[in-house]
Amino acid sequence: MQRPRSSATWLLLLSCCVCAAAGYPFKPPLDLDVTPRITVLSSGLQGCRRFQSSAVNYSTMLLEADSRHLFVGARGAVFALNASDISSSSALTIEWEASSEQKLQCMLKGKDNKTECYNHIRFLQRFNSTHLYMCGTYAFRPLCAYINEKRFVMSSQPEDGKDKCPYGPTMGYTGLIIDQQMYTASKYSFRGFPDIRRNSPMPALKTEEAPTRWLNEADFVGSALVTESSGSSAGDDDKIYFFFTEKSQEQTTTYSHSRVARVARVCKGDRGGQFTLQKRWTSFLKARLTCSLPEYDFHFNVLRSMFVMPGRTPQETLFYGIFGLEWKNVKASAVCRFSLPEIQQAFQGPYMENQDSGSKWKEYTGKIPDPRPGTCITNALRARGINVSTSLPDDVLDFVRRHPLMSQQVQPLDRRPLLFRRTTDYTHMSVHMIQGLDGQTYHVLYMGTDEGWLHKAVEVEGQLHIIEELQVFEEPQPVNNLRVSAEQMSVYVSSPSGVVQLPLSYCARYTSCYDCIFSRDPHCGWNGARCVDVMSQANRSNLIQDIQHGRTGCENTQDSVVLRSRSVRVGDDVLLQCELSSNLATPLWTLDDSELQGYGLNSGFRTGTDGLLIIEARQDQSGLYTCYAVENSIKVAIVNYNVTIRLDLPPPPPVEPTGDTYNFYATLPPPTWSEKPPPPSPASLLPHSELLSPKNMQAMYLSLITILGGLCLVLTVVLVYVGVCLRVGNRGKYSLRAAAAAYPVNKRHSRSRKQSRSSAHMELKTISSHCNGNGVCNGVSKQHNGNIQEGGFLQIVPGEGHTLPNKEPPPPAPPLPPTPLLSSPVCEFPNGLSATLPSVLRRMNGNSYVLLRQSDSENTSPLCYSFAEELNKILEKRKHTQLLPRPDESSV
Ligand SMILES: *[C@@H]1O[C@H](CO)[C@@H](O)[C@H](O)[C@H]1NC(C)=O
Ligand SMILES: *[C@@H]1O[C@H](CO)[C@@H](O)[C@H](O)[C@H]1NC(C)=O
Ligand SMILES: *[C@@H]1O[C@H](CO)[C@@H](O)[C@H](O)[C@H]1NC(C)=O
Ligand SMILES: *[C@@H]1O[C@H](CO)[C@@H](O)[C@H](O)[C@H]1NC(C)=O
Ligand SMILES: *[C@@H]1O[C@H](CO)[C@@H](O)[C@H](O)[C@H]1NC(C)=O
Repeated sequence: MQRPRSSATWLLLLSCCVCAAAGYPFKPPLDLDVTPRITVLSSGLQGCRRFQSSAVNYSTMLLEADSRHLFVGARGAVFALNASDISSSSALTIEWEASSEQKLQCMLKGKDNKTECYNHIRFLQRFNSTHLYMCGTYAFRPLCAYINEKRFVMSSQPEDGKDKCPYGPTMGYTGLIIDQQMYTASKYSFRGFPDIRRNSPMPALKTEEAPTRWLNEADFVGSALVTESSGSSAGDDDKIYFFFTEKSQEQTTTYSHSRVARVARVCKGDRGGQFTLQKRWTSFLKARLTCSLPEYDFHFNVLRSMFVMPGRTPQETLFYGIFGLEWKNVKASAVCRFSLPEIQQAFQGPYMENQDSGSKWKEYTGKIPDPRPGTCITNALRARGINVSTSLPDDVLDFVRRHPLMSQQVQPLDRRPLLFRRTTDYTHMSVHMIQGLDGQTYHVLYMGTDEGWLHKAVEVEGQLHIIEELQVFEEPQPVNNLRVSAEQMSVYVSSPSGVVQLPLSYCARYTSCYDCIFSRDPHCGWNGARCVDVMSQANRSNLIQDIQHGRTGCENTQDSVVLRSRSVRVGDDVLLQCELSSNLATPLWTLDDSELQGYGLNSGFRTGTDGLLIIEARQDQSGLYTCYAVENSIKVAIVNYNVTIRLDLPPPPPVEPTGDTYNFYATLPPPTWSEKPPPPSPASLLPHSELLSPKNMQAMYLSLITILGGLCLVLTVVLVYVGVCLRVGNRGKYSLRAAAAAYPVNKRHSRSRKQSRSSAHMELKTISSHCNGNGVCNGVSKQHNGNIQEGGFLQIVPGEGHTLPNKEPPPPAPPLPPTPLLSSPVCEFPNGLSATLPSVLRRMNGNSYVLLRQSDSENTSPLCYSFAEELNKILEKRKHTQLLPRPDESSV
């Protein structure tokens, strides 16, 4: 069955190539690919505490419910941090670096002396009430040691750890200490096979390798004890579950995969067999975990992390898994949640078998020996005199040995992922349970990404709403581990460079009632004046919260709205800035309380997510403009502008294009939007904001990409065309490097809104297309921070980066290319531009959903994006054209 596999692979590879260029060819249900509501950059993070030391590679963390300490294992050291404030100076350290002799040995073995030839702490857990136990790779010679918790010192000489700990820092590994016995799963030796082990003093047990190998290149990510014995009427045993990805054995009819996600389990009381399966598990069984979007034939086969959420009873245990794709070059994650009963059911179901020791596994339909192979010792067996696994009959054990794999696959709850994200690779997750003010229990997920971000999401009826994305580490780096502490109200995130402690919520971030309830954060409630942490309030009866819908409760609150004034001249282009803090909001503008209809060129208005542009202002456009953020179908006023358009001066002379690139926009024949009115967008929240419909946003982006690409070419054409008023010697050259450097700053501004305000960015106050006859734009004034420009010319003003609404977006969008683009977005990026534009777009909010969003088809995105951001880039370029003329270097 190689052929179906390779053709499927090809298909997917092909898809991936296309994806890389233009977004995925398949469309997932919108409600699964969730956009984080708020983006917070590291500069805007509040209440976060950091721990850093000379050590790197912080990976293992041990945090106990009532403990004052957070124990962290890094490379060559273990730390006991003050859990309430990890940055406090009270941190205790055990330094445990590999000896130089062992490092040399490691190098001689050909290992990487930059990563592998160190002592990476891979295991750190409680051993008994006074001692912890840890294992380190010790430069390819694993060692383990006890830690005296109180004194925080190693309490004995390190002992051999090669049966308990892998050799390298990246080898998949999981382990538990249960009743002072260590259960670990990894590939321990350099050439050996992966193995699930229990170490002495109880009989040490392993998995079987012959005739049937129980594990196939397994990569372990997690393990958990579920105390199924408690409250079991059948006298069941506790079980240990292991989670991993391994090479697939089974062949199904529809498709095949090279790797699959698995759950395996063993019984705690297992003692191995008497003759058959001596020193091997008699209770090892494994089943496939599926996490897929079947309607797109898309299967997440790689399990990256598993969080086990204890329930009130063991039967209510939930398993939250982060899954990824097999193709390493494609970023995507899915979160699937499994219940214990469904896993148990798979282990109760039919077995698979491998009859002719070929590679095909099929469901076993023959007779199953009694007692059922692979079960734990229960009362029923005890009644038959089988008290321990060594008493199990040989035929049962022989069957177990040859049938480790179950036929039934474990489906996630709701039969589909809770979350699907393109362009994000989640690495770790932790789940916190909290009761909402509505009395319901909510699960809040904290998920770390491979780029150092933390996503916080709440699950509502099988859907995840991502409340926020936080840039925890400024330098992109994978989140190595995550722990949530309800006692400390903190989430701890470890990475190669350090550990960060964040509050579970930061409600003060939400400044209005609507902001507070739109967040749908179970930790936050509006108390009439502020958004407060629910847990910190003794009296919660007056708090407003709407986790279910993020809509109701603020009807009677009045938020004061900022009023600004703008006074400009007829014919000017005016930008009214309005930044929306939520990525889920769309802007809506009114003029004297009536909605602005049709934001097309002929209407004289254009809008993006960060502002409204009045093009060539007319006197009748004076009035009170209000910007609303529309979210969850609710209009919230953000800012008012009192705009006066005066006729002080005679109307500007006909535009005489010059070498200034700005004019080029004003004078290009306008293939206006109104010429080709966009079809109404079904997904649009507000039918009247036509230009905000996804299709148009898509069109805008596509246009922008094309425009950017053709910019040089078009410039040339235009410059030749308008050469009359052009002196070649006067023209500037793009300072591309400078523009590129300035661009991400601008991006961050507009995406992160208030969080990041640099003082260096440029502000464009009012815009005009007036140029004087000799081809030089006048009115490049230097210092008018926040003032209304009298001249009405193109004015680029170094901003002082203060309050929110002072940054003005750039000039009008360049004209759109012909609309046929819309019909085939997938083919739009073959000209090499994709390499530049999307990579920039990706940086907009760190986790880069914008890039792929832009090619979503018309009815998949309720969002709209700022064309102003793209134009900012152009503006930045032009700024350098004007401010840094380098006539001799003109390349245009
Ligand atoms: C350890 O940290 C260094 C520097 O932060 C990083 O380059 C390296 O990839 C990390 N290694 C592992 C195994 O995490
Ligand atoms: C831990 O930090 C908290 C808050 O800073 C402080 O009150 C406490 O004394 C510290 N504990 C230790 C053991 O240093
Ligand atoms: C690793 O080994 C190379 C030579 O094999 C040496 O040049 C380098 O300094 C070593 N690096 C470290 C960190 O020891
Ligand atoms: C815990 O284990 C350590 C190491 O084996 C031992 O020295 C210590 O006495 C034990 N403590 C208790 C309370 O049993
Ligand atoms: C099984 O255990 C029970 C009590 O725990 C004991 O009475 C009985 O003799 C044991 N049977 C065997 C076969 O060991």
